[in-house]
Amino acid sequence: MRKKIEQILKKETGEEFRLERAPEGRGDYASNTAFLLAKKEKKSPSELAKSLKKKVKADIFSKVEEENGFLNFFLSENALKEEAFLVLEEKENYGKGNAGKTVVIDYSSPNIAKSFGIGHLRSTIIGQAIYNIHEFLGWKVIGVNHLGDWGTQYGKLIYQIKKEGKNPEKLSLKELEEIYVRFHKEAEKNPEMEEEGRKWFAKLEKGDEEARRVWEICRKKSLDEFEKIYRDLNVEIDYVLGESFYEDKLEDVVKEAEKKKVAKKSKGALIIEFGDMPPAMILKSDGSTTYLTRDMAAAKYRLKEFSPDLLIYEIGVDQTLYLRQLFSAVEKMGWAKKEKFVHVGHGMFRLKEGRFSTRKGRTVHLEEVLSLAKKKAEEIIESSATAKGLSREEKKEASKIIGIGAVKYNDLKRHYKRDVVFDWDQVLTLKGDSGPYLQYTCVRCESVLEKAGKYKKEMEELNDEERKIVRRIVQFEEALENAAENFSPNVIAEYAFRLAKEFNHFYDTCQIVGSDKRLAITDATRIILKKCLNLLGISVPQKM
Ligand code: ARG
Repeated sequence: MRKKIEQILKKETGEEFRLERAPEGRGDYASNTAFLLAKKEKKSPSELAKSLKKKVKADIFSKVEEENGFLNFFLSENALKEEAFLVLEEKENYGKGNAGKTVVIDYSSPNIAKSFGIGHLRSTIIGQAIYNIHEFLGWKVIGVNHLGDWGTQYGKLIYQIKKEGKNPEKLSLKELEEIYVRFHKEAEKNPEMEEEGRKWFAKLEKGDEEARRVWEICRKKSLDEFEKIYRDLNVEIDYVLGESFYEDKLEDVVKEAEKKKVAKKSKGALIIEFGDMPPAMILKSDGSTTYLTRDMAAAKYRLKEFSPDLLIYEIGVDQTLYLRQLFSAVEKMGWAKKEKFVHVGHGMFRLKEGRFSTRKGRTVHLEEVLSLAKKKAEEIIESSATAKGLSREEKKEASKIIGIGAVKYNDLKRHYKRDVVFDWDQVLTLKGDSGPYLQYTCVRCESVLEKAGKYKKEMEELNDEERKIVRRIVQFEEALENAAENFSPNVIAEYAFRLAKEFNHFYDTCQIVGSDKRLAITDATRIILKKCLNLLGISVPQKM
């Protein structure tokens, strides 16, 4: 809609318009074009705005107002209605784009030999939402799970398994994690253990059979476990290309960095200097590679393999400096401009009681959170009157959708940079800004429409309450665009919450069944709300 109007305005006035959302109550769109022209033409913005206003004839507007040099455009009743009908016609395809560009998204990326921590949950959920949004806008999207399955820590783990005489086949992920924690505890007293760990990693890198065997078992176990969690979360990542995948590409990267004089020797190691940031190592003095070496190889691979226009890394804010170093290193190598790379750095995850910690072994496991979410969602279902008719199986299914949806929404409703403070009451409330609230609103629309049966796609005059919702529906495309441009799924969450709130108010104050117009509005609301949830990776239960 906005683009369409910008084109109309260009045709009628001959000027470029970049429309913004108008302040509440002052129309649908606003423009500061007169201010931009004022400098060039040496006239007052207000004077220019007034003369622009005269040129605007399109009946897509009910009125155009000049206000201190700004122009405010009010969409006509007809334009609003037509857009709502378009939603009814195009259904879940309404707003679909044809960007025709390619983006690689690196997300989730947990580390093996550890349970899937709550920390990687954010990356998985936000990364998947960004994925869905871009895909809907017509991007070719490639999702990569950069599994942490390589590096000195696995040497340390193998060393400790051997030292304790454990059979890796018999160890659970939890036990592997405990073994790793024990290594660190003991190494505090016996620093020489660090060296032993490094040696085992060197063996692993050289292809030592025993090191390889143990590592392989740990990796397989982890992947099986992660797979279950992804299934639960309804997330599917296109490629698992873990750090170990780049093993045979690392030597070339190191050589190329030396040849191009991007890296230089320092105290037996190989480092890259940046000037505006601390240096970073790509080869340690014992000859082993680093997290950065593997990320450089990954970047090179992605650029070559997928020719992306954009590469997104959904990783915690604690890796901000590191990623700046990586993007800068890639540019120094001449592989791509660093502007092609974006770090979407999510904030930390905290319980009301304090921060989650891994090192001290005080980890909260994602699995526990998810099963608790499902249990709490069951309580909602059990107490709901509309869910009474459901069978046990259906109730179980609905609880899963509600519980998982609640956890996802809780993460997506605020800007990714902000910390998430986990508070069960807020996560599952049916009254406020929560996943269940939005799902409930969808189900409510659905049941109204079901009860009413067929309706005629007609709309007479809209009252204020109705117009408010239709206006909101028209804003969907802007929210979508804004969310994609800023890698911010929260824009869609906020938008959906507003729409749901307005709809529920409408539901409480207006008799819907019996009015074609109101049923049409309900239907359009249902389509848009469902689409928003769908883009956020949240399903809607049949009943709740
Ligand atoms: N495995 C890493 C961690 O848990 C995250 C990897 C993110 N992706 C990347 N290309 N570095 O910290």
